[in-house]
Amino acid sequence: VTGGVGLVIHSAAELVTLAGPQRARRGEEMRDLAIVHDGAVAAADGRLAAVGRTAEIRERVADDPALAGIDWREIDASGRCVTPGLVDPHTHLVFAGSRPDEQRLRQAGRGYLEILAAGGGILSTVRATRAAGEAELHRRARRWLHHMAAGGVTTVEAKSGYGLDREAELRQLRVLERLDGEGPVRVVPTVLAAHAVPPEYAGRADAYVDEVAVPLAREAGHTGLARFVDAFCERGVFDVHQSRRALLAGRSAGLGLRLHADELAASGGAALAAELQAASADHLGGVDDDGIEALASVGGATVATLLPITTLYLDHPDAPARRLVEAGIPVAIGSDFNPGTSPAPSMLLALWLARSRLRLDAAEALTAATINAAASLGLAASIGSLEPGKHADLVIWDIASHAELGYWAGVELAHAIVRGGRVMNIDRPSVD
Ligand code: NIG
Ligand code: FE
Repeated sequence: VTGGVGLVIHSAAELVTLAGPQRARRGEEMRDLAIVHDGAVAAADGRLAAVGRTAEIRERVADDPALAGIDWREIDASGRCVTPGLVDPHTHLVFAGSRPDEQRLRQAGRGYLEILAAGGGILSTVRATRAAGEAELHRRARRWLHHMAAGGVTTVEAKSGYGLDREAELRQLRVLERLDGEGPVRVVPTVLAAHAVPPEYAGRADAYVDEVAVPLAREAGHTGLARFVDAFCERGVFDVHQSRRALLAGRSAGLGLRLHADELAASGGAALAAELQAASADHLGGVDDDGIEALASVGGATVATLLPITTLYLDHPDAPARRLVEAGIPVAIGSDFNPGTSPAPSMLLALWLARSRLRLDAAEALTAATINAAASLGLAASIGSLEPGKHADLVIWDIASHAELGYWAGVELAHAIVRGGRVMNIDRPSVD
Protein backbone atom coordinates (compact mmCIF):
# COMPACT_ATOMS: atom_id res chain seq x y z
CA VAL A 1 0.00 0.00 0.00
CA THR A 2 1.40 3.40 -0.86
CA GLY A 3 -0.42 6.68 -0.56
CA GLY A 4 -4.15 7.20 -0.32
CA VAL A 5 -6.35 7.82 2.65
CA GLY A 6 -6.33 5.46 5.60
CA LEU A 7 -8.43 5.19 8.72
CA VAL A 8 -7.22 4.59 12.26
CA ILE A 9 -9.77 3.85 14.96
CA HIS A 10 -8.08 3.88 18.35
CA SER A 11 -8.56 3.66 22.11
CA ALA A 12 -11.64 1.41 21.94
CA ALA A 13 -12.67 0.21 25.38
CA GLU A 14 -13.35 -3.15 23.74
CA LEU A 15 -12.19 -4.14 20.28
CA VAL A 16 -14.10 -7.33 19.59
CA THR A 17 -12.04 -8.95 16.84
CA LEU A 18 -13.49 -12.48 16.69
CA ALA A 19 -10.07 -13.47 15.36
CA GLY A 20 -9.88 -17.21 14.86
CA PRO A 21 -10.50 -19.84 12.22
CA GLN A 22 -11.91 -18.49 8.94
CA ARG A 23 -14.98 -20.69 9.11
CA ALA A 24 -18.16 -21.07 11.14
CA ARG A 25 -17.48 -21.45 14.86
CA ARG A 26 -19.27 -24.10 16.88
CA GLY A 27 -19.70 -25.22 20.46
CA GLU A 28 -17.31 -23.46 22.83
CA GLU A 29 -15.71 -21.63 19.88
CA MET A 30 -18.82 -19.47 19.74
CA ARG A 31 -17.85 -17.97 23.10
CA ASP A 32 -14.39 -16.79 22.05
CA LEU A 33 -14.59 -13.19 20.87
CA ALA A 34 -10.82 -12.48 21.01
CA ILE A 35 -11.36 -9.08 22.64
CA VAL A 36 -8.57 -6.48 22.75
CA HIS A 37 -8.85 -3.77 25.41
CA ASP A 38 -7.66 -0.29 24.45
CA GLY A 39 -7.87 -1.61 20.91
CA ALA A 40 -7.18 -0.06 17.54
CA VAL A 41 -7.37 -0.89 13.86
CA ALA A 42 -5.73 0.66 10.82
CA ALA A 43 -7.45 0.35 7.47
CA ALA A 44 -6.08 1.17 4.04
CA ASP A 45 -7.39 0.36 0.57
CA GLY A 46 -10.60 -0.90 2.11
CA ARG A 47 -8.84 -3.64 4.05
CA LEU A 48 -7.64 -4.02 7.61
CA ALA A 49 -3.89 -3.43 7.66
CA ALA A 50 -3.34 -3.85 11.39
CA VAL A 51 -5.42 -4.85 14.43
CA GLY A 52 -4.20 -4.71 18.03
CA ARG A 53 -3.61 -2.50 21.04
CA THR A 54 -3.60 1.25 20.45
CA ALA A 55 0.09 1.71 21.25
CA GLU A 56 1.03 -1.14 18.91
CA ILE A 57 -1.06 0.18 16.04
CA ARG A 58 0.35 3.69 16.45
CA GLU A 59 3.85 2.26 16.12
CA ARG A 60 2.91 0.22 13.07
CA VAL A 61 1.36 3.22 11.36
CA ALA A 62 4.46 5.32 12.09
CA ASP A 63 7.12 2.73 11.26
CA ASP A 64 5.82 0.07 8.87
CA PRO A 65 7.21 0.84 5.39
CA ALA A 66 4.19 -0.91 3.89
CA LEU A 67 2.00 1.80 5.47
CA ALA A 68 4.16 4.76 4.50
CA GLY A 69 2.77 7.77 2.68
CA ILE A 70 -0.84 7.20 3.74
CA ASP A 71 -2.89 10.18 4.85
CA TRP A 72 -4.42 8.84 8.07
CA ARG A 73 -7.78 9.99 9.43
CA GLU A 74 -8.35 9.15 13.07
CA ILE A 75 -11.43 8.28 15.08
CA ASP A 76 -11.17 8.21 18.87
CA ALA A 77 -13.30 5.32 20.11
CA SER A 78 -12.65 5.93 23.81
CA GLY A 79 -15.33 4.42 26.01
CA ARG A 80 -16.83 2.60 23.04
CA CYS A 81 -17.01 -0.95 21.78
CA VAL A 82 -15.94 -1.85 18.21
CA THR A 83 -17.13 -5.03 16.49
CA PRO A 84 -17.13 -6.44 12.97
CA GLY A 85 -20.01 -5.12 10.86
CA LEU A 86 -23.11 -7.22 11.43
CA VAL A 87 -24.00 -9.70 8.70
CA ASP A 88 -27.69 -10.38 8.08
CA PRO A 89 -27.70 -13.79 6.35
CA HIS A 90 -31.43 -14.12 5.56
CA THR A 91 -33.74 -11.41 4.22
CA HIS A 92 -36.47 -10.98 1.63
CA LEU A 93 -35.55 -7.35 0.97
CA VAL A 94 -37.20 -6.69 -2.39
CA PHE A 95 -40.99 -6.53 -2.43
CA ALA A 96 -43.94 -4.20 -2.81
CA GLY A 97 -46.98 -3.88 -0.58
CA SER A 98 -47.52 -4.81 3.05
CA ARG A 99 -49.63 -7.29 5.02
CA PRO A 100 -50.49 -5.87 8.45
CA ASP A 101 -53.93 -7.52 8.34
CA GLU A 102 -52.66 -11.10 8.41
CA GLN A 103 -51.69 -10.99 12.06
CA ARG A 104 -55.37 -10.53 13.01
CA LEU A 105 -56.32 -13.45 10.77
CA ARG A 106 -53.78 -15.66 12.51
CA GLN A 107 -54.91 -14.49 15.92
CA ALA A 108 -58.44 -15.43 14.88
CA GLY A 109 -57.19 -18.97 14.28
CA ARG A 110 -56.12 -19.10 10.63
CA GLY A 111 -52.73 -20.73 10.08
CA TYR A 112 -49.86 -19.15 8.14
CA LEU A 113 -50.03 -21.87 5.46
CA GLU A 114 -53.83 -21.77 5.41
CA ILE A 115 -53.70 -18.07 4.49
CA LEU A 116 -51.17 -18.91 1.76
CA ALA A 117 -53.31 -21.76 0.43
CA ALA A 118 -56.23 -19.34 0.15
CA GLY A 119 -54.16 -17.09 -2.11
CA GLY A 120 -52.96 -14.67 0.57
CA GLY A 121 -49.66 -14.58 2.43
CA ILE A 122 -46.68 -14.82 0.11
CA LEU A 123 -49.05 -14.73 -2.88
CA SER A 124 -50.44 -11.37 -1.88
CA THR A 125 -46.90 -9.96 -1.89
CA VAL A 126 -46.32 -11.67 -5.24
CA ARG A 127 -49.30 -9.78 -6.73
CA ALA A 128 -47.97 -6.45 -5.45
CA THR A 129 -44.40 -7.22 -6.52
CA ARG A 130 -45.38 -8.36 -10.03
CA ALA A 131 -47.30 -5.11 -10.48
CA ALA A 132 -44.38 -2.93 -9.40
CA GLY A 133 -41.72 -1.67 -11.76
CA GLU A 134 -38.01 -2.10 -11.18
CA ALA A 135 -37.55 1.51 -10.11
CA GLU A 136 -40.27 1.23 -7.50
CA LEU A 137 -38.90 -2.03 -6.11
CA HIS A 138 -35.48 -0.46 -5.91
CA ARG A 139 -36.78 2.62 -4.08
CA ARG A 140 -38.67 0.52 -1.56
CA ALA A 141 -35.74 -1.81 -0.93
CA ARG A 142 -33.40 1.15 -0.39
CA ARG A 143 -35.65 2.41 2.36
CA TRP A 144 -35.36 -0.84 4.30
CA LEU A 145 -31.68 -1.22 3.53
CA HIS A 146 -31.13 2.15 5.15
CA HIS A 147 -32.59 0.89 8.41
CA MET A 148 -30.47 -2.24 8.28
CA ALA A 149 -27.32 -0.20 7.74
CA ALA A 150 -28.19 2.25 10.51
CA GLY A 151 -28.44 -0.78 12.81
CA GLY A 152 -24.87 -1.81 12.04
CA VAL A 153 -25.33 -4.21 9.12
CA THR A 154 -22.58 -4.03 6.49
CA THR A 155 -23.48 -7.21 4.55
CA VAL A 156 -26.95 -8.54 3.84
CA GLU A 157 -28.18 -11.63 2.04
CA ALA A 158 -31.38 -11.01 0.08
CA LYS A 159 -33.68 -13.29 -1.87
CA SER A 160 -35.99 -13.14 -4.83
CA GLY A 161 -39.16 -15.19 -4.37
CA TYR A 162 -41.95 -12.65 -4.82
CA GLY A 163 -41.92 -12.82 -8.61
CA LEU A 164 -42.44 -16.54 -9.25
CA ASP A 165 -42.09 -16.08 -12.98
CA ARG A 166 -38.97 -15.49 -15.02
CA GLU A 167 -39.40 -11.78 -15.61
CA ALA A 168 -40.44 -10.82 -12.11
CA GLU A 169 -37.79 -12.98 -10.40
CA LEU A 170 -35.05 -11.54 -12.60
CA ARG A 171 -36.35 -8.04 -11.86
CA GLN A 172 -35.90 -8.66 -8.13
CA LEU A 173 -32.38 -9.99 -8.72
CA ARG A 174 -31.46 -6.97 -10.85
CA VAL A 175 -32.61 -4.69 -8.03
CA LEU A 176 -30.28 -6.56 -5.69
CA GLU A 177 -27.41 -6.22 -8.14
CA ARG A 178 -28.01 -2.49 -8.33
CA LEU A 179 -28.23 -2.11 -4.54
CA ASP A 180 -24.94 -3.96 -4.14
CA GLY A 181 -23.28 -1.74 -6.71
CA GLU A 182 -24.55 1.45 -5.10
CA GLY A 183 -23.45 0.57 -1.60
CA PRO A 184 -22.92 1.21 1.17
CA VAL A 185 -24.14 -2.27 2.15
CA ARG A 186 -22.76 -5.41 0.46
CA VAL A 187 -25.68 -7.43 -0.91
CA VAL A 188 -25.42 -11.19 -1.49
CA PRO A 189 -28.22 -12.32 -3.83
CA THR A 190 -30.16 -15.58 -3.63
CA VAL A 191 -32.65 -16.93 -6.16
CA LEU A 192 -35.71 -18.29 -4.35
CA ALA A 193 -38.06 -19.10 -7.20
CA ALA A 194 -39.25 -22.15 -5.20
CA HIS A 195 -40.89 -19.93 -2.57
CA ALA A 196 -44.54 -20.66 -3.37
CA VAL A 197 -46.60 -22.04 -6.24
CA PRO A 198 -48.03 -19.10 -8.23
CA PRO A 199 -51.73 -19.11 -9.24
CA GLU A 200 -51.00 -20.04 -12.87
CA TYR A 201 -49.50 -23.32 -11.58
CA ALA A 202 -52.03 -23.94 -8.78
CA GLY A 203 -52.04 -27.65 -7.90
CA ARG A 204 -49.04 -28.27 -10.17
CA ALA A 205 -46.04 -27.75 -7.90
CA ASP A 206 -43.93 -30.30 -9.78
CA ALA A 207 -44.54 -28.55 -13.09
CA TYR A 208 -43.74 -25.16 -11.51
CA VAL A 209 -40.45 -26.46 -10.15
CA ASP A 210 -39.40 -28.09 -13.41
CA GLU A 211 -40.63 -25.38 -15.78
CA VAL A 212 -39.84 -22.25 -13.77
CA ALA A 213 -37.75 -22.74 -10.60
CA VAL A 214 -35.16 -25.10 -12.13
CA PRO A 215 -34.46 -23.03 -15.26
CA LEU A 216 -34.41 -19.82 -13.20
CA ALA A 217 -31.87 -21.25 -10.77
CA ARG A 218 -29.67 -22.17 -13.74
CA GLU A 219 -30.09 -18.81 -15.41
CA ALA A 220 -29.42 -16.89 -12.19
CA GLY A 221 -26.26 -18.92 -11.71
CA HIS A 222 -24.98 -18.61 -15.25
CA THR A 223 -25.63 -14.87 -15.47
CA GLY A 224 -24.12 -14.17 -12.05
CA LEU A 225 -27.37 -12.59 -10.86
CA ALA A 226 -27.40 -14.88 -7.81
CA ARG A 227 -24.77 -16.48 -5.62
CA PHE A 228 -27.13 -18.85 -3.80
CA VAL A 229 -30.26 -20.84 -4.51
CA ASP A 230 -32.91 -21.39 -1.83
CA ALA A 231 -36.26 -23.20 -1.57
CA PHE A 232 -39.16 -23.18 0.89
CA CYS A 233 -39.13 -26.86 1.93
CA GLU A 234 -42.22 -27.23 4.05
CA ARG A 235 -45.14 -29.63 4.23
CA GLY A 236 -47.79 -28.05 2.00
CA VAL A 237 -45.34 -25.91 0.01
CA PHE A 238 -42.40 -27.71 -1.66
CA ASP A 239 -41.51 -31.22 -0.57
CA VAL A 240 -38.01 -32.62 -0.23
CA HIS A 241 -37.92 -33.93 -3.82
CA GLN A 242 -39.03 -30.64 -5.34
CA SER A 243 -36.67 -28.63 -3.14
CA ARG A 244 -33.77 -30.92 -4.00
CA ARG A 245 -34.38 -30.43 -7.74
CA ALA A 246 -34.38 -26.65 -7.39
CA LEU A 247 -31.22 -26.66 -5.28
CA LEU A 248 -29.32 -29.07 -7.52
CA ALA A 249 -30.17 -26.98 -10.58
CA GLY A 250 -28.57 -24.02 -8.85
CA ARG A 251 -25.56 -26.06 -7.78
CA SER A 252 -24.99 -27.21 -11.36
CA ALA A 253 -24.81 -23.52 -12.33
CA GLY A 254 -22.28 -22.72 -9.62
CA LEU A 255 -24.60 -21.49 -6.87
CA GLY A 256 -24.23 -22.22 -3.18
CA LEU A 257 -27.20 -23.74 -1.37
CA ARG A 258 -29.44 -22.49 1.43
CA LEU A 259 -32.82 -23.81 2.47
CA HIS A 260 -35.94 -22.68 4.34
CA ALA A 261 -35.89 -25.86 6.41
CA ASP A 262 -38.52 -27.04 8.88
CA GLU A 263 -39.72 -23.50 9.53
CA LEU A 264 -43.16 -24.51 10.76
CA ALA A 265 -42.99 -28.30 11.11
CA ALA A 266 -40.50 -31.12 10.62
CA SER A 267 -40.59 -31.61 6.85
CA GLY A 268 -37.27 -33.27 6.07
CA GLY A 269 -35.68 -29.87 5.37
CA ALA A 270 -32.81 -30.12 7.85
CA ALA A 271 -31.96 -33.60 6.57
CA LEU A 272 -32.02 -32.36 2.97
CA ALA A 273 -29.74 -29.44 3.84
CA ALA A 274 -27.35 -31.86 5.52
CA GLU A 275 -27.52 -34.36 2.64
CA LEU A 276 -26.51 -31.63 0.18
CA GLN A 277 -24.15 -29.99 2.67
CA ALA A 278 -25.95 -26.73 2.05
CA ALA A 279 -24.18 -23.62 3.32
CA SER A 280 -27.18 -22.85 5.48
CA ALA A 281 -30.32 -24.49 6.90
CA ASP A 282 -32.65 -21.70 7.93
CA HIS A 283 -35.47 -21.30 10.48
CA LEU A 284 -35.62 -24.80 12.05
CA GLY A 285 -38.51 -23.81 14.33
CA GLY A 286 -40.01 -27.25 13.76
CA VAL A 287 -36.82 -29.31 13.46
CA ASP A 288 -36.98 -32.76 15.06
CA ASP A 289 -34.32 -35.03 16.57
CA ASP A 290 -33.51 -36.62 13.21
CA GLY A 291 -33.00 -33.21 11.65
CA ILE A 292 -30.65 -32.12 14.43
CA GLU A 293 -28.73 -35.37 14.14
CA ALA A 294 -28.39 -34.92 10.38
CA LEU A 295 -27.06 -31.38 10.75
CA ALA A 296 -24.67 -32.47 13.49
CA SER A 297 -23.30 -35.22 11.24
CA VAL A 298 -21.85 -32.86 8.61
CA GLY A 299 -19.14 -31.47 10.85
CA GLY A 300 -20.07 -27.80 10.69
CA ALA A 301 -20.43 -27.65 6.89
CA THR A 302 -24.03 -26.45 7.24
CA VAL A 303 -24.78 -23.42 9.42
CA ALA A 304 -28.10 -23.35 11.27
CA THR A 305 -29.45 -19.86 10.59
CA LEU A 306 -32.06 -18.99 13.21
CA LEU A 307 -34.63 -16.25 12.75
CA PRO A 308 -36.17 -15.37 16.11
CA ILE A 309 -38.09 -12.27 14.95
CA THR A 310 -40.21 -14.53 12.74
CA THR A 311 -41.15 -16.96 15.50
CA LEU A 312 -41.95 -14.06 17.80
CA TYR A 313 -44.12 -12.32 15.18
CA LEU A 314 -45.92 -15.53 14.22
CA ASP A 315 -46.20 -16.57 17.88
CA HIS A 316 -44.61 -19.91 16.97
CA PRO A 317 -42.13 -21.96 19.00
CA ASP A 318 -38.52 -20.87 18.66
CA ALA A 319 -35.80 -23.03 17.16
CA PRO A 320 -34.01 -25.16 19.78
CA ALA A 321 -30.91 -22.97 19.71
CA ARG A 322 -29.22 -24.39 22.81
CA ARG A 323 -29.65 -27.93 21.58
CA LEU A 324 -28.17 -26.98 18.22
CA VAL A 325 -25.16 -25.30 19.81
CA GLU A 326 -24.65 -28.22 22.15
CA ALA A 327 -24.87 -30.65 19.24
CA GLY A 328 -21.86 -28.87 17.71
CA ILE A 329 -23.84 -27.22 14.91
CA PRO A 330 -22.67 -23.68 14.08
CA VAL A 331 -25.50 -21.22 14.66
CA ALA A 332 -26.08 -17.90 12.88
CA ILE A 333 -28.92 -15.44 13.35
CA GLY A 334 -30.71 -13.26 10.82
CA SER A 335 -33.64 -10.89 10.57
CA ASP A 336 -35.66 -12.75 7.88
CA PHE A 337 -36.95 -9.28 7.02
CA ASN A 338 -40.13 -9.63 4.89
CA PRO A 339 -43.67 -8.22 4.93
CA GLY A 340 -45.37 -11.42 6.11
CA THR A 341 -43.44 -12.95 8.96
CA SER A 342 -40.78 -10.43 9.99
CA PRO A 343 -41.65 -6.80 9.35
CA ALA A 344 -38.50 -5.76 11.20
CA PRO A 345 -35.27 -5.03 9.29
CA SER A 346 -33.26 -5.17 12.48
CA MET A 347 -30.29 -7.32 13.39
CA LEU A 348 -30.26 -5.55 16.77
CA LEU A 349 -33.72 -6.95 17.45
CA ALA A 350 -32.58 -10.37 16.24
CA LEU A 351 -29.62 -10.15 18.65
CA TRP A 352 -31.91 -9.14 21.48
CA LEU A 353 -34.19 -12.11 20.83
CA ALA A 354 -31.24 -14.45 20.35
CA ARG A 355 -30.30 -13.69 23.92
CA SER A 356 -33.70 -13.35 25.56
CA ARG A 357 -35.58 -16.12 23.76
CA LEU A 358 -33.01 -18.41 22.10
CA ARG A 359 -30.88 -18.21 25.26
CA LEU A 360 -27.59 -17.63 23.50
CA ASP A 361 -25.14 -15.70 25.65
CA ALA A 362 -23.75 -12.33 24.55
CA ALA A 363 -20.68 -13.85 22.91
CA GLU A 364 -22.59 -16.62 21.14
CA ALA A 365 -25.14 -14.15 19.83
CA LEU A 366 -22.47 -11.81 18.45
CA THR A 367 -20.61 -14.73 16.86
CA ALA A 368 -23.93 -15.79 15.29
CA ALA A 369 -24.45 -12.29 13.86
CA THR A 370 -20.93 -11.88 12.45
CA ILE A 371 -18.49 -14.68 11.57
CA ASN A 372 -21.08 -17.46 11.53
CA ALA A 373 -23.46 -15.42 9.40
CA ALA A 374 -20.52 -14.65 7.09
CA ALA A 375 -19.65 -18.35 6.94
CA SER A 376 -23.21 -19.18 5.94
CA LEU A 377 -22.63 -16.88 2.95
CA GLY A 378 -19.28 -18.46 2.11
CA LEU A 379 -17.55 -15.24 3.15
CA ALA A 380 -15.81 -16.22 6.38
CA ALA A 381 -12.39 -15.57 4.85
CA SER A 382 -13.16 -11.97 3.90
CA ILE A 383 -15.67 -10.55 6.42
CA GLY A 384 -17.15 -11.36 9.83
CA SER A 385 -14.06 -10.76 11.97
CA LEU A 386 -11.46 -8.02 12.35
CA GLU A 387 -8.17 -9.48 11.15
CA PRO A 388 -5.47 -8.14 8.85
CA GLY A 389 -6.34 -8.61 5.18
CA LYS A 390 -10.10 -8.78 5.70
CA HIS A 391 -12.50 -6.05 4.59
CA ALA A 392 -12.54 -3.08 6.95
CA ASP A 393 -16.25 -3.48 7.79
CA LEU A 394 -16.95 -2.56 11.40
CA VAL A 395 -19.19 -0.74 13.82
CA ILE A 396 -18.29 1.65 16.62
CA TRP A 397 -21.08 1.26 19.17
CA ASP A 398 -22.24 3.74 21.78
CA ILE A 399 -21.66 1.19 24.52
CA ALA A 400 -18.50 0.19 26.36
CA SER A 401 -18.97 -3.57 26.11
CA HIS A 402 -20.40 -6.12 23.69
CA ALA A 403 -22.40 -7.38 26.68
CA GLU A 404 -24.78 -4.48 25.99
CA LEU A 405 -25.47 -5.62 22.40
CA GLY A 406 -28.75 -7.51 22.46
CA TYR A 407 -29.47 -5.90 25.82
CA TRP A 408 -30.74 -2.38 25.02
CA ALA A 409 -33.64 -2.63 22.59
CA GLY A 410 -35.37 -0.05 20.44
CA VAL A 411 -32.30 2.16 20.70
CA GLU A 412 -30.02 3.41 17.92
CA LEU A 413 -26.77 2.03 19.25
CA ALA A 414 -24.39 2.51 16.33
CA HIS A 415 -22.12 5.53 16.68
CA ALA A 416 -20.40 5.03 13.32
CA ILE A 417 -20.50 2.31 10.69
CA VAL A 418 -17.51 1.63 8.48
CA ARG A 419 -17.67 -0.32 5.22
CA GLY A 420 -14.47 -0.92 3.31
CA GLY A 421 -12.54 1.52 5.48
CA ARG A 422 -14.94 4.39 4.88
CA VAL A 423 -17.42 5.82 7.35
CA MET A 424 -20.96 5.34 6.08
CA ASN A 425 -23.09 8.36 5.54
CA ILE A 426 -26.46 7.13 6.72
CA ASP A 427 -28.93 9.35 4.93
CA ARG A 428 -32.62 8.70 4.99
CA PRO A 429 -34.06 8.02 1.55
CA SER A 430 -37.78 8.50 1.43
CA VAL A 431 -40.42 6.45 -0.31
CA ASP A 432 -43.49 7.91 -2.00
O1 NIG B 1 -38.87 -16.86 5.81
N1 NIG B 1 -41.54 -18.94 4.86
C1 NIG B 1 -41.16 -18.50 3.80
N2 NIG B 1 -40.67 -17.28 3.56
C2 NIG B 1 -40.66 -16.20 4.51
C3 NIG B 1 -41.97 -15.54 4.65
C4 NIG B 1 -42.40 -14.90 3.40
C5 NIG B 1 -43.72 -14.23 3.50
O2 NIG B 1 -44.58 -14.60 4.31
O3 NIG B 1 -43.88 -13.31 2.70
C6 NIG B 1 -40.07 -16.61 5.82
O4 NIG B 1 -40.74 -16.67 6.86
FE1 FE C 1 -37.26 -16.39 4.90
